[in-house]
Amino acid sequence: MNIPERMQAVSINKQDGTLVVQNVPVPELAKGEVLVKISAAPINPSDLSRIKNSNRRDDTTSFVPGIEGSGTVVAAGAGLLPRLWLGKRVVCSSINDRSGTWAEYMVTKAERCFPLRNYISDYQGAMLLVNPMTAIAFFDIIRRGNHKAIVNTAAAGSLGKMIELLGRKFGISVVNIVRNKSQVDILHAIGAKYVLDSSNENFREDFHSLCLQLNSTLVFDAIAGRQTQQFLDVIPNGGSVIIYGNLSDEKQELNLTPLVMGNKKLSGFFLANWINENGLIKTIRSLIRVQQLFKRELKIEIQGRFPLEKVQQAVDTYLNNMSAGKVLLITGSKEVDLN
Ligand SMILES: NC(=O)c1ccc[n+]([C@@H]2O[C@H](COP(=O)([O-])OP(=O)(O)OC[C@H]3O[C@@H](n4cnc5c(N)ncnc54)[C@H](OP(=O)(O)O)[C@@H]3O)[C@@H](O)[C@H]2O)c1
Repeated sequence: MNIPERMQAVSINKQDGTLVVQNVPVPELAKGEVLVKISAAPINPSDLSRIKNSNRRDDTTSFVPGIEGSGTVVAAGAGLLPRLWLGKRVVCSSINDRSGTWAEYMVTKAERCFPLRNYISDYQGAMLLVNPMTAIAFFDIIRRGNHKAIVNTAAAGSLGKMIELLGRKFGISVVNIVRNKSQVDILHAIGAKYVLDSSNENFREDFHSLCLQLNSTLVFDAIAGRQTQQFLDVIPNGGSVIIYGNLSDEKQELNLTPLVMGNKKLSGFFLANWINENGLIKTIRSLIRVQQLFKRELKIEIQGRFPLEKVQQAVDTYLNNMSAGKVLLITGSKEVDLN
C-alpha cells in the first residue's frame, strides 16, 4: 500500500489549549510494531484526562490523543506478530503520547492490535477495548470474589449499561447509580431493576436498604470524591469498593474507620494493569468473547461521528451529554453525521 509521508493528526493548540488538526509526519515503525490506518476512534473520559494532564506540560506539540480505535494494519515492523496482522482490520490501542488514534495513522505494538470479525463494524470495533474489556474484567473479579450483587456508578454511560446487561446475563444483581431522573429512565429502558438517583434526598437511606436487601458486597466506583465515603460506610462488613475513575474530580478525603472496624477493602482498577497481569493469550480470548457478545447482546450507543478537523466540536458535543452515547472521530469522510 502507498503510505504518504504526512498525515492529519489532532494536537493541542499551545495558545489556548483547544484541540486542532495539524499536518505532521506519519510516525515511523520499529521492530515489533505496526502502522494502522485509522478508521474511527472514540472520545473516552480517559482521553480527556490525558489531554488535561498534557495541557500542563510545556511541550504539547508532539502529543496525539486517542487511546483506542479501529483501522487496518498497512505496514509491519520486524517480527512474527506484526507480519501476521499485516492487512488485517483491527481494534488497536496506543502505546505512547506521540502516536494516538485521533490521527489518520498510528504506530503501535502488534500486541496492542486484535483482529476484528467481519460482523463488527469499524464504528463498534473502535470501542471494543476500553469499556467491553473492562466489563469482562469486572465480571472476572465478581466471579473470583463470589459476589452475588454489586453496585456500579456512572451507570447511564456506555460501560455502565454494559455492566447492567452482563449482570442480567450472568445472574448478578446490579445496583445502578446515576445522577439524575433522565438517567434513571435510560436504565429502566434497558430493563434495569435496581436504579438509584444520587441527587435524590433519600439516596443514602435507599442505598442502605437495597444493599442490605441484596447483600451487595462489591462497589465499582467511577465517580470517587465524597460519594466513596457513603459506599464504605454502607456496604456490608467484609465488602469492597473498587475505584476505577475520578469523574467527580473532587479531592478525596476519607474516614478509613470502616476499613479497620468493618474489614472493608478499598482498591483501584486500571485495565492496562489487568491486561498485563493476565497476559496476551487471556486478553485475546477475552477479545474473542467480547466480539461474540457484540454479535448478539451488546452494542454501544453512538451519538455523533465527526471528521478529525471538527475534533473540538466533537469533544464539546460529548461533554454536553455523555449519557447520550459515544462520539467518534472518523477519517476519510468530511461529513458530520449526528444520527
Ligand atoms: N480504570 C479503567 O481501566 C477504566 C476503563 C474503562 C472506563 N473507565 C472509566 O469508566 C467511567 C465511565 O466510562 P464510559 O466510557 O462509560 O463513560 P461515558 O459513556 O461517557 O459515560 C459517563 C457517565 O458518567 C456520568 N458522569 C460524568 N461525570 C459525572 C459526575 N461528576 N458525577 C456523576 N456522574 C457523572 C455521565 O453523565 P452525564 O451525561 O450527566 O455527564 C455519564 O452517564 C469513566 O470514569 C472512565 O474513565 C475506567
